[in-house]
Amino acid sequence: MLLLVPALPALAEPTAEVLHWWTSGGEARALKVIADRFTESGGRWIDSPIAGGGGDAARTVAKTRMIGGKPPTIMQWHLGLSLRQLAESGLLGEVDAVARDGKWDEVLPPLLVANAKIGGHYVTIPVDIHGENWLWTNSKVLAAAGVAVPRSWAEFNAAAETLRAAGYIPLALGGQGWQQVIVFSAVALGTGGPDFFRRAFVDLDAKALAGPEMVAVFAELRLIKGMIDPGASNRDWNEATNLVIQGKAAMQLMGDWAKGEFVASGLVPERDFGCDPSPGAGDAPRAAYVVAADSLAVPKLADPAQREGQILMARTAMDPAVQRDFSLAKGSIPARNDVPQDAFDVCAQKAMAIVRESKDLLPAIGSSMGIGAAEAGAITDAVSLFFARDMTPEDGAKALAAAVAGSR
Ligand code: GAL
Repeated sequence: MLLLVPALPALAEPTAEVLHWWTSGGEARALKVIADRFTESGGRWIDSPIAGGGGDAARTVAKTRMIGGKPPTIMQWHLGLSLRQLAESGLLGEVDAVARDGKWDEVLPPLLVANAKIGGHYVTIPVDIHGENWLWTNSKVLAAAGVAVPRSWAEFNAAAETLRAAGYIPLALGGQGWQQVIVFSAVALGTGGPDFFRRAFVDLDAKALAGPEMVAVFAELRLIKGMIDPGASNRDWNEATNLVIQGKAAMQLMGDWAKGEFVASGLVPERDFGCDPSPGAGDAPRAAYVVAADSLAVPKLADPAQREGQILMARTAMDPAVQRDFSLAKGSIPARNDVPQDAFDVCAQKAMAIVRESKDLLPAIGSSMGIGAAEAGAITDAVSLFFARDMTPEDGAKALAAAVAGSR
């Protein structure tokens, strides 16, 4: 007797075009961890890198493609308000079934659940937690100049004088808005404190934005402009990190993705380089911390192969071993809170302790975790203007308050 079995539709090959801005040495090494596991699991990875640290260019391309109805399968996007705005405009899909099976509500910290699960749906795959307010130092340069790691802005300014006199670039920085905002927000945090940071960069309080505390921030920023070398204009962040790695520059204020470059160069934390919360932010585990969390968002799309790609990507990127190895290369800490910590170095251990114990986890300006993209853009423009022009601190604060008021 002939048994007729209905032909099951062949599952489409899971395919994912991944749009991202992870193009530096450490970033590419980290992304390869996910790509390799995705491919080993039967997926087809189509890489769509859009260079440009901080991701402005990549986000613009991704948004244009989504609105134009040709979204990538997966796009790197920060957890925060701008992601929420995309979801609320109906541009994002969901990976709820994988999240349910994987118990994401339990293995992710509440801050990440709140920003990844929108309207009850997981619209993105959290991959890491970064801290923006880190001070990276070349240990040999500091020792040669007889300088200790500065823990306050007064110490930072004195250290810069000594380092310059000893022939080093005191601070490595790239002349790009998002990098300048990272320095600006570290100064604001370390001079005004966490509550001031919240009033200024979450509540966008006009008094905080234009007041005496903000004038003090721009006064410090004016000093910092004098610590940067003439070659800084439009320099990429990882080139600035290289200056510290090579011992040409002594210090960099940058997110812990910078550690990915130090480690990729074979350097060892606390032997070759230092990793400390920015001056005035306090020390681990209670340091105030400016958080930026990366995720792989899932645009709404119908193509079965890409849909399978999104589902496989959710399983792959949230796998504990993948999260561990990704963060070991990236310089971040895993998004999941159940990844064993023993594989991580002293810098990551500090970050994990801070995320666990600090009462001041603050949303990064650039990743618009606490404010919308328009307001974040206005702050970035005002800070860039201050770096480009010879302005007084009073004018800097006034221009900032006006820019934010104009963006709302
Ligand atoms: C940030 C991103 C980090 C790192 C950095 C430099 O926006 O969150 O993962 O890649 O840009 O490109």
